[in-house]
Amino acid sequence: MPTAKPRVNRSRLFAIDEGTRAPNTEFRDAGSKYQILFDQASDPVMTLSTDGTIDAVNQAFEEMSGYLKQELLGRKIGVLTPSGAQGHTSHRARPLSSGLLEAPGTYEDVAVARKDGYVRFVDLSVRIVSSGPDSERLVLALFRDVTEKKRMERELITKHAELRNAYFQLERKNAELQAMQETLVQAGKMAALGELAAGIAHELNQPLQGIRGYAQELQALALPSGAEPSTRPAIESSLVEIISNSDKMAHIIDYLRTFTRKSVEKHEFTNIHDAVEEALKMLSRQFKARGIAVQRDFAPALPKLYANPLQLEQVFINLATNARDAIETTGRGHGTISIKTTKSGNFVEVRFRDDGIGMAEKTKSKIFNPFFTTKEVGKGMGLGLSLSYGILSKLHGSMVVESELGKGTTFVVRIPVDFRELA
Ligand SMILES: Nc1ncnc2c1ncn2[C@@H]1O[C@H](COP(=O)(O)OP(=O)(O)OP(=O)(O)O)[C@@H](O)[C@H]1O
Ligand SMILES: [Mg+2]
Repeated sequence: MPTAKPRVNRSRLFAIDEGTRAPNTEFRDAGSKYQILFDQASDPVMTLSTDGTIDAVNQAFEEMSGYLKQELLGRKIGVLTPSGAQGHTSHRARPLSSGLLEAPGTYEDVAVARKDGYVRFVDLSVRIVSSGPDSERLVLALFRDVTEKKRMERELITKHAELRNAYFQLERKNAELQAMQETLVQAGKMAALGELAAGIAHELNQPLQGIRGYAQELQALALPSGAEPSTRPAIESSLVEIISNSDKMAHIIDYLRTFTRKSVEKHEFTNIHDAVEEALKMLSRQFKARGIAVQRDFAPALPKLYANPLQLEQVFINLATNARDAIETTGRGHGTISIKTTKSGNFVEVRFRDDGIGMAEKTKSKIFNPFFTTKEVGKGMGLGLSLSYGILSKLHGSMVVESELGKGTTFVVRIPVDFRELA
């Protein structure tokens, strides 16, 4: 590129005419002093004529732009305007242009094209100066290179985004861990309960059968002849009580034993709708007596589940019994149970909803705990849900609850079509 000859004598800027002032060493000294100041200024400086022709640049400008002085002097400012593609390096930056240099002011984030094609970002301050009333007006452009600052800002923004991302991931992992921990705790409780139940069942059953046997013997022996006629009704009613209470206990023991029944589970491909219908059938009379309607929204052609049909039925009996109690507790005298089945992937989902009394958060967090109940003594043992949870866990399924006090409760049961494929 031919080196353009400076069109304007740079010394004009400093009001020094070397021709006339030459003998005056004081002025010459002042001129060279300003020249040194101009050249050595740490920030890039440029002067231009008002038509945008470059008049002078200092060393710092040479360094920033990659051009030598003689390559710039006399050329138009457009040589430093980034091309369209270069402009894309920063969406907020505006290109250095003659238009920008026409109006005095301060401009942030201006893009300047270097000789090697790279773009520098600068803060630009534009002043219009003149050395006297008749002298030509010049544009003084002071630059501050902020490329590094911008790069660091961008880096900071990226790092900040990365940090936020990492934080969210950490939160998610934390939630997963917590859920896993809860599952483990629940599984631990179930295992402990299983052992406890087996022990209790065994220990209680022996004496209970003894009590029952003796009571029956007494009933047969004492009533016909031995006892006073006046005491007979009392003896009789006590014996009936002993027997019926023993039966209740035997029933409870049976219930506890289901926890330990491991090997006798016989699985087969089971229609989940049949299991639901069986459970509803068992409770149909009670539903009728309490004004409870059942709405079914069953998906057609659901795949059969590999499971024990009686255990599946047990899960729905527990859910239906709880729904019955929840509706009854409202005191309204009627209610609705809605059951919706769907297939999602390799799982079958059952949403079991009631418009009963619902649950407070505190209750909700405990319902899967064995022996947790809010029902009066003798009405609930607090085992229905923990038992159901255990049955579903063994099938690699799950059960979650959504509930609002005063509105109702939905249990969402998910069961894989064939748990052996997941095991
Ligand atoms: N559908 C529901 N609506 C409101 N509360 C419910 C519902 N299902 C369960 N609960 C609450 O969860 C508790 C535990 O239920 P779970 O079935 O385990 O035991 P239970 O019904 O109290 O006794 P059991 O089932 O052994 O007869 C209940 O006592 C009740 O407070
Ligand atoms: Mg229950």
